[in-house]
Amino acid sequence: ASTIDLAVIPGDGIGPEVTAEALKVLEKAAAAEGIVLRQTHYKLGAEHWLETGETLPAATLEDLRTRDAILFGAVGAAPGDTRIPSGIIERELLLKLRFSLDHFVNLRPSRLYAGVGSPLANPGEIDFIVVREGTEGPYVGNGGTLRAGTPHEVATEVSLNTAHGVERVVRDAFRRANDRPRKKLTLVHKHNVLVFAGQLWKRTVEAVAQEFPEVTHDYLHVDAATIFMVTDPARFDVIVTDNLFGDIITDLAAAVTGGIGLAASGNINMDRTAPSMFEPVHGSAPDIAGQQKADPTAAILSAALLLDHLGFAGAARKIEAAVTADVEARDGAVRTTSEVGDAIAAAL
Ligand code: NAD
Ligand code: IPM
Ligand code: MN
Repeated sequence: ASTIDLAVIPGDGIGPEVTAEALKVLEKAAAAEGIVLRQTHYKLGAEHWLETGETLPAATLEDLRTRDAILFGAVGAAPGDTRIPSGIIERELLLKLRFSLDHFVNLRPSRLYAGVGSPLANPGEIDFIVVREGTEGPYVGNGGTLRAGTPHEVATEVSLNTAHGVERVVRDAFRRANDRPRKKLTLVHKHNVLVFAGQLWKRTVEAVAQEFPEVTHDYLHVDAATIFMVTDPARFDVIVTDNLFGDIITDLAAAVTGGIGLAASGNINMDRTAPSMFEPVHGSAPDIAGQQKADPTAAILSAALLLDHLGFAGAARKIEAAVTADVEARDGAVRTTSEVGDAIAAAL
C-alpha cells in the first residue's frame, strides 16, 4: 500500500479546530483508497512561543523536512495581544517554513460553488487560480529602521525579485494555464510604479509565453485587478503575481466566492526538494476561536490539494466532490465546525 508520512501543525486559535476536521476527512479518504496515513503532530505557534520562547527550532525544521507533506492549520495571536511582538510567529515560523522548504508556488484556487452566496450581485461563473510567488517579494525581511521612534525615523522594506524566482513561478503558472480549458494567464503587478520589479515580471512573462503558444496572456495593474475581481471575476483563469499582491487579492477572491472559510491553499515546492505545506488561506481567527464556529471547509479543501500534490488525484477528487455536495446543501444552516467535518466525511 502507499503511505503518506504526514506532518501536522495545528497551530493557534481555530487552527486546531479546523485541522481536526481536515484530518477526519483525510483519514477517511485515505483509508478508502488503501493509503496508509502516518501522522506526526508538532506543537508550534503563538501559544507554544508563550510557553517556551521557541518559534521553529532547527531540529524541528530538520524533522519536518523528512516528511512527505505538511498539513498546517493557522498560527498567530490576536492583533491586540501585547504579549507577543507583531510578526514574530508569522516571520519566524510560517514564513520561515515557506522559505526554508522553498515553497515557491503559493497556489490559491477560487471557485464559487453552486449554492454558495456571493456578496456580488452578478458574480457569474468564478473559477480561477492565483499562483502567488511564495519565497520573495517584500516578505524576505530585507529592510530596517533608522532613528526608530524619533520624528526622523526612516523605515524600509525592500522587495526582492530574482530572475530565477520570477521565472520558476511564471513557468509554473503557464503550465497550469495550459492544463485548463480557457488557457488564459493574467500577470498582476504594478509596473507603472514598481518599475524595476515590474519590468522583470513583464519581461519574464513575455519570454516564458513563447514556450506556451496555446496560452493567451494579459496584464493588469493590481489596483485595476481589484476592480475586476469585484465587477467581473469570471474573466480570470490563472493569475500570476508577487508575494504581497497575491496575499491581498486572495483574501478578496475568497470574499467574493463566499468567504474566507472556503479558501484553500498549497505552499508548493514544485522541484520536490522538500515537503510542501497545505493550509487554509485564513488565519487563527481569535475572534471566534474555541467556539466551534469556524468553517473547516478551507482546511478540508487544503487536504485535497495535499493529496493532489502527492499524486493521489482520485482521493482528492472525492474530497472535492464531497465538499461540493455539502456546500450545495448548506442553505444558510448554522452548524458547528465538527458538524461540517462530519457531514463532508459522510458525503465521501
Ligand atoms: P483571520 O483570517 O484570522 O480572520 C479574519 C476574519 O475572518 C475574522 O473575522 C475571522 O473570524 C474570519 N474567519 C477566518 N477564518 C474563518 C473560518 N474558517 N470560518 C469562519 N470565519 C473565519 O485574519 P486576521 O484576523 O487578520 O489574523 C488573525 C491572526 O492570524 C494574526 O495573528 C495573523 O497574523 C494570523 N494569520 C495567520 C495565517 C496563517 O497561519 N496562514 C493567515 C492569516 C493570518
Ligand atoms: C496568508 C497570511 C500570511 C501571509 C501571514 C500570516 C504571514 O496572511 O497566508 O495569507 O501574508 O502570507
Ligand atoms: Mn493573507
